[in-house]
Amino acid sequence: MARVFVTGSFNVDHVWHVQTLPLAGATLSGTYSTGPGGKGFNQAVAARRTGADVRFTCALGEDAGADLARRLCASDGIDLCPAPSISPSGAAGIFVDASGRNSIAIGAGANASLSADFVAGALQGIGPDDIALCQLESPPTAVAQALTLARANAATTVLNPGPANGTLDWALLDQVDLLTPNETEFATLLARVVGARLEPDTVDGIDQHTLHALCRDLLPIGTVIVTLGASGCFVSHPEDELRGDLHAFYRIPAEPAKVVDTTGAGDAFSGALVAALAQFPERALIEHVRFANRYAALVTEHQGAAMAMPLLPVT
Ligand code: RIB
Repeated sequence: MARVFVTGSFNVDHVWHVQTLPLAGATLSGTYSTGPGGKGFNQAVAARRTGADVRFTCALGEDAGADLARRLCASDGIDLCPAPSISPSGAAGIFVDASGRNSIAIGAGANASLSADFVAGALQGIGPDDIALCQLESPPTAVAQALTLARANAATTVLNPGPANGTLDWALLDQVDLLTPNETEFATLLARVVGARLEPDTVDGIDQHTLHALCRDLLPIGTVIVTLGASGCFVSHPEDELRGDLHAFYRIPAEPAKVVDTTGAGDAFSGALVAALAQFPERALIEHVRFANRYAALVTEHQGAAMAMPLLPVT
């Protein structure tokens, strides 16, 4: 079976469930919980729990967080490739409000020390059937190495460009086969790469032809899937590479969900998407997108990030 190589972050998430997200100067009461997270780890868990053969490359400290990552990878059957770091493992402070929306602050810790050389070693043997999946919570050089090496070996490259303030050499976007921004990341990338200004909360109201044109400006030779939360997602292909689909662009509505926590929903989408693609490469992309959309909706019905990912084989 094709393998999924996830390169990214592991964080210990510290979560406060509050009525409303805090404003400057406010002190709030809420309930506290902690659990594993990090965009990279969440996506690795989602891909594994939807049936993919997953290698997860990250950097870990020498602490309880690292033990947690090792334990969970072993129990889930994820092939963990950890770079040792003298910094503490990554951490995130998360507020989740009564409607499930969140605000997140990250302390990169060990994640900031993942080197390009280590990534090159971890991706040894990646081949044409495999998929590389990255995010932007790791050093730009590490992400660049993963994308470049995967592309050089004819593997499929997928970039989830989160968080929106993450950095990369944007020229590397031409190494990306599939880009999966949420609306905030999409607006940020458009401003950085194309110079187009857009308010994130207006993206889901944009007509499909205009949205498609913006996606084509952003990634002329790759597919863009903009995830739009409660509005589902939008897919845009280059005209000559429809990935088995009938149309160059289309929308998929959101699946109904009783939302309690949206943390990790985008990670669930990207992880499930690559898992479906790795297991059933002959299927049209729309089938994988529908599955990822359904999987992401399920995750919002549970609290937490990685631990909210359900076991759900691709059907
Ligand atoms: O996407 C959600 C994740 O972002 C959280 O798990 C947190 O660790 C941050 O990386």
